[in-house]
Amino acid sequence: MTDRVRIVEVGPRDGLQNEKTLVPAAAKIELIDRLSATGLRSIEATSFVSPKWVPQLADAAEVYVGIAKRPGVRYPVLVPNEQGYERARAVGVDEIAVFTAASEAFNRRNINASIEESLQRFMPVIERAKADGVAVRGYVSTVLGCPYQGEVPVADVVRVARELHAMGCYEISLGDTIGVGTPGKAAAMLRAVAGEVPMAALAVHFHDTYGQALANLHACLEVGVRVVDAAVSGTGGCPYARGASGNVATEDVVYMLEGMGLATGVDLDGLADTGRWLSQLLGRDSGSKVARARSAVA
Ligand code: HMG
Ligand code: MG
Repeated sequence: MTDRVRIVEVGPRDGLQNEKTLVPAAAKIELIDRLSATGLRSIEATSFVSPKWVPQLADAAEVYVGIAKRPGVRYPVLVPNEQGYERARAVGVDEIAVFTAASEAFNRRNINASIEESLQRFMPVIERAKADGVAVRGYVSTVLGCPYQGEVPVADVVRVARELHAMGCYEISLGDTIGVGTPGKAAAMLRAVAGEVPMAALAVHFHDTYGQALANLHACLEVGVRVVDAAVSGTGGCPYARGASGNVATEDVVYMLEGMGLATGVDLDGLADTGRWLSQLLGRDSGSKVARARSAVA
């Protein structure tokens, strides 16, 4: 088991997709550039989804082009279909993420497709990505519960994760979209998926709606996962998941991991500064307890 954890920073995408106010492209670009200066090596930059469905990220192309691409940093973007793939490739994207769910009801509301239809839709996208040398990550949402269906059988999570991996996704991120999971269930779900997909190809993605995200993450680290999604300042939420709130805050994840002797390569001071800057921009308190505690004593 390695003592390093790779953090996938999803704030610029998962965070800003759910903001009521539109954040200007220049501020999004500044956010991403500030994040890349903290040592983060994977920053999900934006989404090439339908601008009617997610107007907050309608400026995806402008944002992607404007980022000061730092060598060694990956900037994946969300792509729901071939149209999104073409828009992303037109501005030079070299890593994408496709996304589906373990629950039919959520998937229908989020991407207007059944799980099977979404996988069929991804097939040509992944084939083109392979031919173009573009890396593909895959998301499975609602792995610990669905806002519309309720309980989600672990077997459904395992099946969708296995299919995305078999189709060519190098990594599968398991999303507790509405943050209802608890540690024992999170660990059992991860163990079941890891029975079919190698642990090295798995990531966890916790929203913190019920305040369980760090506990869930800790349980999954014990099971062996070493890739963790998080959002600076605890931003985040899916506009099509009723009741979803922010992701686990990256500042809190880095603090916990470093305290456990798991290296992240991320400068916590720089990250906390960025989180403060972002929460000022959004006009509210940071969702990171670590950042709030550090500003209180500063
Ligand atoms: P649809 O309406 O079924 O699409 O939406 P369509 O193919 O019928 O096309 C309808 C219109 O959309 C057409 O335009 C298309 O051109 C346009 P019109 O002819 O009406 O003018 N269109 C597009 N435009 C730009 N880029 C595109 C694109 N595709 C179609 N890529 C669709 C289907 C998938 C497009 C839509 O449902 C969609 O964009 N959904 C995205 C929802 C979303 O982004 N949700 C949040 C991300 S997922 C998440 O947050 C969970 C995660 O964090 C993990 C977790 O927490 O669990 C990842
Ligand atoms: Mg999410």
